[in-house]
Amino acid sequence: MVNRIKCYLPLLFLSTYSNEEKITLPNGRISNVYTGLFINNEFVDSVDRKVFETINPATGKVITSVAEASDKDVDLAVEAAANAFNDVWNHVDGKERGRLLNKLADLMERDLEELAALETLDNGKPFYSAKTYDLPSAISCYRYFAGWCDKIHGKVIETQHDKFCYTRREPFGVCSAIIPWNYPLEMQAWKMAPTLACGNTIVFKPSELTPLTALKVAALCKEAGFPKGVVNVLSGFGPIVGAAIASHMKINKVSFTGSNAVGKSILKASADSNLKNVSLELGGKSPNIIFADSDLDQAVKWAHMGIFYDSGQCCCAGSRVYVEDSIYDKFINKFKEHALNIKIGDPFHKDTYQGPQISLQQFNKIMSHIETGKKEGATLLIGGERHGEQGYFIKPTIFTNVNEEMTIMQEEIFGPVVSVSKFKTIEEVIKKAHLTKYGLAAAVFTKDITRAIKISNELKAGTVWVNCYNLVDANTPFGGYKESGIGRELGKYALDQYTQVKTVQINLGIQM
Ligand code: NAI
Ligand code: MG
Repeated sequence: MVNRIKCYLPLLFLSTYSNEEKITLPNGRISNVYTGLFINNEFVDSVDRKVFETINPATGKVITSVAEASDKDVDLAVEAAANAFNDVWNHVDGKERGRLLNKLADLMERDLEELAALETLDNGKPFYSAKTYDLPSAISCYRYFAGWCDKIHGKVIETQHDKFCYTRREPFGVCSAIIPWNYPLEMQAWKMAPTLACGNTIVFKPSELTPLTALKVAALCKEAGFPKGVVNVLSGFGPIVGAAIASHMKINKVSFTGSNAVGKSILKASADSNLKNVSLELGGKSPNIIFADSDLDQAVKWAHMGIFYDSGQCCCAGSRVYVEDSIYDKFINKFKEHALNIKIGDPFHKDTYQGPQISLQQFNKIMSHIETGKKEGATLLIGGERHGEQGYFIKPTIFTNVNEEMTIMQEEIFGPVVSVSKFKTIEEVIKKAHLTKYGLAAAVFTKDITRAIKISNELKAGTVWVNCYNLVDANTPFGGYKESGIGRELGKYALDQYTQVKTVQINLGIQM
């Protein structure tokens, strides 16, 4: 599928390899793919000269190999980021940081089709989605935070007559971000844009399953004119590179998105190293509550998108749908019909709605959850099996006759699997909605505005959607209650995550 025009240097240079490669993408476009670690504005081999393969999940075939970082490369990247912060970036004013972030956004707009195709190749998401949602949303995130760069300031605090007190919002210095594979370009933007806007430098780690677009954006950062060492990107494995970042003594902040277990290990590593600031955006098991007075067709469409978008690989996926019993039968028939009509397959085909799961491992994990659901007594209404011969596709899957004790109602499945159940009263559904350790998002469908507001206030979730699902904007905060995380990304709230407050107290005449 992928035709390599230029590959590694000849055998003669056995110990080194080209850090740039041209590949023909399945949609016919040619892309310059970067495969080295990005440190000090250069693509370099890892110290150990190791590489690993990245796979196209639609076919299971290898796309290319990229450099595999270790703790030694983390040290080099941190040194580059620290020097860049101390020597240059800390003296660059907000206006210039904003200009650079906007320039990066311009370059991403210029290369939008190429970036979208590369995202689809490495991640498997439909090209249409990458082009229409992921890219514009990542670009708008860089632009949004570009606007904040020269608007970050402290306060004057009145205390006593003979004193002048003010605060400053200062950067942490060297920050790091570790992101997952479900929205590689968007997650990079959510973390890199505010980190840089607030005046920090960054050591960035993409997921080992989707390193290609992060490296491409690194090249665009250089082209945009970011000084060397401000942005560093290390491809590699979580337990090696991620763990080295989490316990590094010279990294002052880590922002992480991913699984609950790894999130907790990062907090522990912070406690055991230098108490670096940690923000976490973890998983969810979000309830979607549909009342009898809602617009049924709209509720079906939103609920459908709420779970099946991005093959169900969404931290805020509406994986527990609660329907008021008087409309349950009608809802389930329409919902099922919708799910059966999903176009699943080649992500580069223009009509495809659902691509593959990210990896064989995730595919197996989801299938094992489906088996557990059946064993624990839930009714498998549709799906529950592989689609096609190659790649990691799973048919849209609906379970009914579920209860809150079941594993499929407690654990994040991260696939196209939804459980639908009935409720009679508001009290009952709120109680059930809260019966998980998560609190990332929730949704309510009703035409009764009073009920919508009351239940939104009641729900323990970082985001509540009313008569919609999955709507996120660069200027609206996002994050979790309970075990879904710590801190908020996006919006003005994100500035709190990437700055620390300094208080300056000046004596205007107080005598000792
Ligand atoms: P993961 O949490 O292992 O991976 C996310 C990122 O963390 C990757 O960059 C990975 O390299 C890194 N990482 C892994 N181990 C690490 C360690 N010990 N120290 C530091 N960094 C480490 O998630 P994975 O294995 O890809 O997916 C497993 C499950 O996690 C999914 O089924 C889903 O339930 C959940 N998940 C949630 C996401 C979200 O958006 N909240 C995103 C991805 C996964
Ligand atoms: Mg891949």
